[in-house]
Amino acid sequence: MLKRRDFLKVAGAGGAAVLAAGPFSRTTGTPTSPKEAPNMAYTAKDYGKLIGMAGFSETLLKNHFTLYQGYVTNTNKVLDALAQMAADGKTATPEYAELKRRLGWEWNGMRLHEHYFENLGGKAPLAAGGKLAKKVAESFGSVEAWEKDFRATGAMRGIGWVVLYEDTASGRLINFWVNEHDAGHPAGGRPLLVMDVFEHAFMIDYGLKRADYIEAFFKNIDWAAVESRLK
Ligand SMILES: [Fe+2]
Repeated sequence: MLKRRDFLKVAGAGGAAVLAAGPFSRTTGTPTSPKEAPNMAYTAKDYGKLIGMAGFSETLLKNHFTLYQGYVTNTNKVLDALAQMAADGKTATPEYAELKRRLGWEWNGMRLHEHYFENLGGKAPLAAGGKLAKKVAESFGSVEAWEKDFRATGAMRGIGWVVLYEDTASGRLINFWVNEHDAGHPAGGRPLLVMDVFEHAFMIDYGLKRADYIEAFFKNIDWAAVESRLK
């Protein structure tokens, strides 16, 4: 690792300019490159097992997987860029602020897609009398009332997500609309069932018939995966 004086020698005449943007703490002069931190980069998961699922074409799913991989790539890029800016002492800049705002969008785009793909691919219906069915009925009056509200939320105009959340403070289950990826999540909520209602999730197969997509989604819910997310 280069010491500060060695770095200046290597940088030569342009050293001052390079140093201004280089990975050194302004207060200690020691290297603060985020590359020294352990590698905690996210890796895209493989959901290829969902191909062949009834009601979802291979073309739609493969496009969706590619979009998801983009969120993973960009989450890593944003985290790396923020760490570098922090190391460079550039936190009081508009660029840092805007990138920080973007992190929630990219990160949630990544994680929501993972929940979505992981609550698909099931064949068995929701087990009547099971733990999840009981909690749904407690919160909504009946499973039918919950489902009606979840589908209605999914039919709303706009792009985003429908998420059945468990309020971990009270145990109550509530259907939330999440605008895009980042607006509308309940603090401390645990996502149980996640449905993507961005147009890319259905237009290739269903055009504007969003209700038909929601019907196909319901036929493929992995209820065991959903139930396993309960607190
Ligand atoms: Fe999506």
